[in-house]
Amino acid sequence: MFIDSHAHLDDERFDEDREILIESLKENNIDLVFNIGADIKSSKASVQLAKKFENIYAVVGVHPHDAKDVEEDYLDILRELSKEEKVVAIGEIGLDYYYDNSPRDIQKKVFKEQLDLAKELDLPVVIHTRDAAQETFDILKEAAEGGKLRGIMHCYSGSVEMAMEYIKLGFYISLGGPVTFKNSKVAKEVAKAIPLDRLLIETDCPYLTPEPYRGKRNEPKYVKYTAEAIAELRGISVEEVAKATSENAKTIFGIK
Ligand code: NI
Repeated sequence: MFIDSHAHLDDERFDEDREILIESLKENNIDLVFNIGADIKSSKASVQLAKKFENIYAVVGVHPHDAKDVEEDYLDILRELSKEEKVVAIGEIGLDYYYDNSPRDIQKKVFKEQLDLAKELDLPVVIHTRDAAQETFDILKEAAEGGKLRGIMHCYSGSVEMAMEYIKLGFYISLGGPVTFKNSKVAKEVAKAIPLDRLLIETDCPYLTPEPYRGKRNEPKYVKYTAEAIAELRGISVEEVAKATSENAKTIFGIK
């Protein structure tokens, strides 16, 4: 059984078959799915999914794309949502200087505020970073001082060296569909190099569909292709990857 540590099943691309898909997770070898918020609306939707379905947990937060649209009371709303039983982390939060959908100073402000919130609530964080590697690292390093910060680098696309630095800070590294792509040399190096006890797998569905379904809508069950690619790169069995990544997901999200 696999755990999909990062999915967006609230996305409108699942409107037609969401329930069927969730109800068939088990027969598709998926134990649990962590559904990740990207703004207040999707955070609330994640909480609703977690309430309705036993095998879904929720993560709440505001993505850097949406940082510019937060209302003054957004932290209070996230704080309230986090009191729900199956809310297990704050995310996805971070910096995205590739799309720059929000001004960078606002991205940084909203990122730091949510890191403080996670520390206040003693919850892990789920980090999104794109074309902002050094600044993301610097902000996390500062936030990690004095302990308490821990989390996941979601769909990690940086170097092996940087991955090791994040691990030292208390982070786990999550790999997604790109590790199955022919041309993703660095992701393959990361898949080989990082300690198995710090590795997670994810789909980020409906995005980033692994081979052989690249280009189609992604779903939790396709996480097995990412696991197979990692197993092959490391020279271990898929079962070992499934077991380690499931244990790691439960550990970092605090699930018994
Ligand atoms: Ni995501």
